[in-house]
Amino acid sequence: MEKKFKRTLITTALPYANGPVHIGHLAGVYVPADIYARYMRLKGEDVIMIGGSDEHGVPITIKARAEGVTPQDIVDRYHSIIKESMAGLGISFDIYSRTTSDIHHETASEFFRHLYDKGEFVEKTSMQPYDETAGEFLADRYVMGTCPHCGNERAYGDQCEACGTSLNATDLINPRSTLTDSPIVLKETKHWFLPLDKWEPALSKWILDGHKEWKSNVYGQCKSWIDLGLQPRAVSRDLKWGVPVPVDGAEGKVLYVWFDAPIGYISNTKELLPNTWQTYWKDPETRIINFIGKDNIVFHCIVFPAMMMAYGDNFQLPDNVPANEFLNLEGDKISTSRNWAVWLHEYLVDFPGKQDVLRYVLTANAPETKDNDFTWRDFQARNNNELVAVLGNFVNRAIVLTHKYFEGKVPVAGEYTDVDKQLFADIVAAKDSLSANLDTFHFREALKDAMEIARLGNRYLQETEPWKLAKTDMERVATILNVALQICANIAIAFEPFLPFMAEKLRGLLGMSSANWSKLGASDILNAGDTIAPAELLFEKIEDEAIDAQIQRLERIKEENKVKNFKAAPQQEDVEFDTFMKADLRVGTVLECKKVPKADKLLQFLIDDGMGTRTIVSGIAKYYQPEDLIGKQVCFIANLAPRKLKGVVSQGMILSAENADGSLVVMGPTAPVVPGAQVK
Ligand code: 2FM
Ligand code: ZN
Repeated sequence: MEKKFKRTLITTALPYANGPVHIGHLAGVYVPADIYARYMRLKGEDVIMIGGSDEHGVPITIKARAEGVTPQDIVDRYHSIIKESMAGLGISFDIYSRTTSDIHHETASEFFRHLYDKGEFVEKTSMQPYDETAGEFLADRYVMGTCPHCGNERAYGDQCEACGTSLNATDLINPRSTLTDSPIVLKETKHWFLPLDKWEPALSKWILDGHKEWKSNVYGQCKSWIDLGLQPRAVSRDLKWGVPVPVDGAEGKVLYVWFDAPIGYISNTKELLPNTWQTYWKDPETRIINFIGKDNIVFHCIVFPAMMMAYGDNFQLPDNVPANEFLNLEGDKISTSRNWAVWLHEYLVDFPGKQDVLRYVLTANAPETKDNDFTWRDFQARNNNELVAVLGNFVNRAIVLTHKYFEGKVPVAGEYTDVDKQLFADIVAAKDSLSANLDTFHFREALKDAMEIARLGNRYLQETEPWKLAKTDMERVATILNVALQICANIAIAFEPFLPFMAEKLRGLLGMSSANWSKLGASDILNAGDTIAPAELLFEKIEDEAIDAQIQRLERIKEENKVKNFKAAPQQEDVEFDTFMKADLRVGTVLECKKVPKADKLLQFLIDDGMGTRTIVSGIAKYYQPEDLIGKQVCFIANLAPRKLKGVVSQGMILSAENADGSLVVMGPTAPVVPGAQVK
């Protein structure tokens, strides 16, 4: 930080209130922002952290329509889930508000009107999809038709989900309205555009020349946008849900969600600080940091800054935009629509009291420079091998030994040995690295620095072995335990940004009334004679059962998705009736059924085929217990040339249907028939 700022304004991307928040949101935005905010507060800085729900946009209206409720119902539901669950995880917003608030509507409306009055917009008419039956313009997502690339008949007007191609509604073949199923027409409509091209030189100077220190993913994305040449962007939409465009003749039009959402940062600051909000937005001595995910970079680095430049009035641009990449879940992209996520509100129920474990794992695996993966096994391993075995274990030993030898009072330290001095030098080095990493948004590395303090503590006790010295040199034991307790106090400070629940509990055990970053590295945080509470475990081992349950839940979701996304195989070429009749299909009764040795897929049947008995081998062992099939009637091909399978000659083939998940279901008659009956 070369420039000295007086205060910091932290903004966090406003999550859409069309679903709960998941670990991807947390790892990308809210956990890092919260670490930073807590760090600033520990340093005694003037800082506020702003959050809120983004409650406009087309997906919310689609969800409402699908459920037969109003968009307001949808956002009310998810806003409270999101707000409550974030608080549950200890995300310390100074305010968490919403974009349906009056103050936001007024602020966004005024912002638009100010730009409009200044002549900052370009008005353009264009032809947009229109549903004549409904009498409404349609957002691209409301149009469905055949994908011109892959032939999928259910492609959306913005994207074909079968082949992934981005589309415009007008690209679709036979485009229809999803509201009324009527064919769409194109109708002329007027919209307001922000001419980003006008701001290109200023944006280029500000970012490309002025912020070379930004993360390379952020800088690189900005550079490629600017290099491509910026185009005017529409800031209004034909939609009923949103902030109405405050201009005569704009009935039925609202501000584009990406125009109003970032203004939400301003509205929420106003709501928090009605009298002083302007200091946080307009004083050059305020430092603004936007925490976002990578898909939001263009809006925060190009569009919103251009809006603020156009507004004038000294609005300050962000000093940094430390955007993260994406977090995957068990190797697959997190997806709200596919329910492929770990939802925060569910985690808090499934793992009560383990907020810090999630915070720890998401920080240790934060997708800071590349996409990263969350796995439940890694979650368990990090808890058991790091939080329990290193951090928890050290603190527990220090406190237990203090109770054992000094009745729970901080003992008086004697003169430090070289080992003691080296230890504090190492802690100071860890602190320096920790501060430097936090200052530059390298939270994964910062967490390692904090963990280093706990590792140093463990090593110190291992080397000095106070339990052995207790027989001979209690004075030295007193010094060692004083030092160990000071390390615990250092841990309570260093981890406050990362693991605030643990840090608070530890401060309670140590009798520390507050935490202050300036004390980090010190050897006199606790005073001799201070009372230490009896040891309590800071972390507990997570057993396999809890993890297995989560993994099974994900496996179930995968199966459900396979069924939902099942596409029947294309029909095969026609065959003549006579050709079909050549296949001799029959029904038989299963007399015996057993596993084929050394072949885990195969079952061996003895079938009463009406003519005698025959052996058939079938690859369905994964889906049936042999005894369950005895006595059942099955369809089989009687005249298939005999084949040898794992040493058994199969005289025919049992028919089964393949389900979406690849499992097989044996075909049989719906009522009993005589064995040998022909299937026609
Ligand atoms: O991507 C999203 O989830 C958006 N709702 C983020 C908005 S950030 C800000 F501009 F409000
Ligand atoms: Zn397609």
